[in-house]
Amino acid sequence: MPHADSALVPETITTKAEFWAHTYSQLDMLLDGDQRNWVTNLSNASSLIYNSLLAFPTYFGTGQGAVNWCGFYLDSQLFPQPSTRRGQNGSNGHHAPNSRLLLGPFNGRPACQYINTAPGKARGVCADAFLKKRTVVVSDVESYPGHIACDGETQSEIVCPLMLHSDDSDRVLGVLDLDCLAMAGFDEEDKAGLEKITQLLVKACDW
Ligand code: SME
Repeated sequence: MPHADSALVPETITTKAEFWAHTYSQLDMLLDGDQRNWVTNLSNASSLIYNSLLAFPTYFGTGQGAVNWCGFYLDSQLFPQPSTRRGQNGSNGHHAPNSRLLLGPFNGRPACQYINTAPGKARGVCADAFLKKRTVVVSDVESYPGHIACDGETQSEIVCPLMLHSDDSDRVLGVLDLDCLAMAGFDEEDKAGLEKITQLLVKACDW
């Protein structure tokens, strides 16, 4: 099957539960193999989720595809640190702030490059999901305190943390963020579906 066809949604799928089970198995197929780079795998994941939602137009009850953004914000410590590289040759490099999320692979229009997660400065749905280590569902972004509007057309949003579980600690690597043009676009079924998908993704990558 051509890779692009993994984002097709068969007409037999009519419920959200079926949709997320289908999307999970398509992602599982895409991740199968020895590619464990997180840039590569998160890129295909954001494309798969975004395009599958658009291919399932009854999803938001609006009769048209309503998702307008799907992507990742990652802990800045996962990215190469300019100050560390310069430090290796003895100079005092520029120190990039560590307490922030950086824009990662996504599908949709351009979005803000970073989100502050520092104590007292953190703001927005992504920072809240990251710091509280739990999924945040927002029915109406206008009424969410601190919401960061990357696109003024967005009406609702869901943000799910990427949790790396180990025997002695849990680390949050970043978040998966979806935006919708309809009010109350996401609910508990989306939360359950996306949490399973993030678990699959975290296990499929080297961090
Ligand atoms: N709305 C998010 C910012 C990211 S964009 O939606 C892509 C927030 O409040 O954190």
